[in-house]
Amino acid sequence: MTDPNPAEMSEPDIPARSFPLSARAPGKCILFGEHAVVHGRPELLLAIDLYTQVTARRAERYRLNADTDPLSRNPYLARSISEHWKNGPPLEFRVSTRIPKAAGLGSSAAFSADLGAILGSANGGVDRPTLAQTAFSIEQGAQGVGSPGDTSAVVAGGVLSVNGGKGTLLWSVADAAASWKVRRVRDPNWSWLVAYSGIPRNTGATVRRVGERLAAPDGPALLEQFAQVADEGIAAVEAEDRERVGRLMRRNHELLREVGVSHPRLEELIAAVEDVCEGAKLTGAGAGGSIVALPRPGRELEAARRITRVGGVAFPVRAAASGATLVEGTAPPVTPATGP
Ligand code: PMV
Repeated sequence: MTDPNPAEMSEPDIPARSFPLSARAPGKCILFGEHAVVHGRPELLLAIDLYTQVTARRAERYRLNADTDPLSRNPYLARSISEHWKNGPPLEFRVSTRIPKAAGLGSSAAFSADLGAILGSANGGVDRPTLAQTAFSIEQGAQGVGSPGDTSAVVAGGVLSVNGGKGTLLWSVADAAASWKVRRVRDPNWSWLVAYSGIPRNTGATVRRVGERLAAPDGPALLEQFAQVADEGIAAVEAEDRERVGRLMRRNHELLREVGVSHPRLEELIAAVEDVCEGAKLTGAGAGGSIVALPRPGRELEAARRITRVGGVAFPVRAAASGATLVEGTAPPVTPATGP
């Protein structure tokens, strides 16, 4: 019997491969603690089973779908290349996604994680904690502000907490000013509903606006309330207490309204589903974007129908089983039949 190959034994989570390469990452929604997490408070996130897939291959010049000058137009790609492929040959990227853009559902985090996974693989492989840090610096470099919650969720998959909870520590992610601890939370395996209002928004501008609001004299007290709701929310999900989770979602939404990031369309979506759901709230930066709701068992379809009736885009989702991965093992090409 031959000894196992030590290189194979220590293959990183995202293994070394050569081009063409393809990576897939889920979207995310925030169950508790958005905005407050930027200020170091706890957050609970769910990676959702809507995915973005990116394929990359060598080319004569850089290209991103139809864009032949993407490095000057797409800050996520520009940042990825300048940090992880500086002297590499040009690449052509194709992106396919089910995550609506600028909707607060993690499209930019998933794109950043896919780019990090592809370039990490081409550079010799990368472990998940490093990929979480890479995806965060790509996203933060492009947006200018924010926490590593979104990018950690799409790299980890499942349910996870930031700066809270008692689960296994997955990794810590830092920027120049702060560091956040990311932990695993057991997935209660519930059906959730996310719904896009159709109103795009800008995360950076909204985060800055909330930062100004929290600088007011009642800011610290508000932040403490955000933290308390998120801590209790993490415990309620761990205890699989649906009713308590719903109540805390409603409370978290009130706080988000208080810091000025709700929107009439979000209020309309929430009102449309509230009596068939345990709770509902805006998710992500707000000021447009999306809501997340926890439908009562058996009322999932009715909740989705009500969203459609008021003009929202409903996505029934569950926790994504896995985070960002390389898409490998495609079927070998079909050999054209020869002869009769
Ligand atoms: O980009 P969005 O809508 O998913 O917002 C992210 C959540 C914030 O807490 C508002 C910002 C952040 O980076 O954590």
